[in-house]
Amino acid sequence: MEGLFQAVRSPVLEERIPAHLRDPEGYWFGLTKRARVIVRSVDRVAADEITTYEELAAPTWKGRLVVRSSANVYNQSLVASIIAALGPRDAAEWAAGVTANFARAPKGNDRDQIKAIAAGIADLALVNTYYIGILATSESAEDRRVAAQAAIVFPNQAGRGTHVNVSGAGVTAAAPNRENAVRLLEFLVGDEAQAAFAAANFEYPVVPGVPVSDLLASWGVFREDTLPLSRLGELNTEAVRIMDRAGWK
Ligand SMILES: [Fe+2]
Repeated sequence: MEGLFQAVRSPVLEERIPAHLRDPEGYWFGLTKRARVIVRSVDRVAADEITTYEELAAPTWKGRLVVRSSANVYNQSLVASIIAALGPRDAAEWAAGVTANFARAPKGNDRDQIKAIAAGIADLALVNTYYIGILATSESAEDRRVAAQAAIVFPNQAGRGTHVNVSGAGVTAAAPNRENAVRLLEFLVGDEAQAAFAAANFEYPVVPGVPVSDLLASWGVFREDTLPLSRLGELNTEAVRIMDRAGWK
């Protein structure tokens, strides 16, 4: 990826986008964010039964958790955040505990994990918030029924906060019109563009204070982990190795 983008300095981008959601050297900028949350079966798991990522490794959840493959970057980035929070040894133990709790070998995308809860295959899943939004507002009654079976838990609210990832952009190394590219990025962090751009895919604006869509507002506010995403990139290789060793397919 490094060779694809060029470093950009922009006072507008640096002021509008919180530092943890952009590259310190300006190679990429987060434009919308999503939380990687736990969803629980509304029927089989009470709201206070699970409040942290750490608890996903507890034996109570044996055979009750579904999550997509370790090849997926959302999971790699979540595990990197666990390494940053707990250290590599405890993170490895956590990954082993989580893997031991799988209701099935990982398969499908985040939506499929929510569907597995509705189908009674599992009681908990790990997903990005916008997938819940997609199902909850789907034209398909079945999708909406699936979404209604799953409640969001924003993990680690009493501690470091919920892990987030971003959709982002950068200026390509070969961009023929660098100035216009930067201007476009700056436009996208304006209040109106932020609100509209985030709402279009059920995501959160990266710019603080910009209102979220009604659906996201209904999920409530949450505290997010402000560990720099660039740090998660640095820990990615180790995260993949840890999941591999844990047998997380
Ligand atoms: Fe996605």
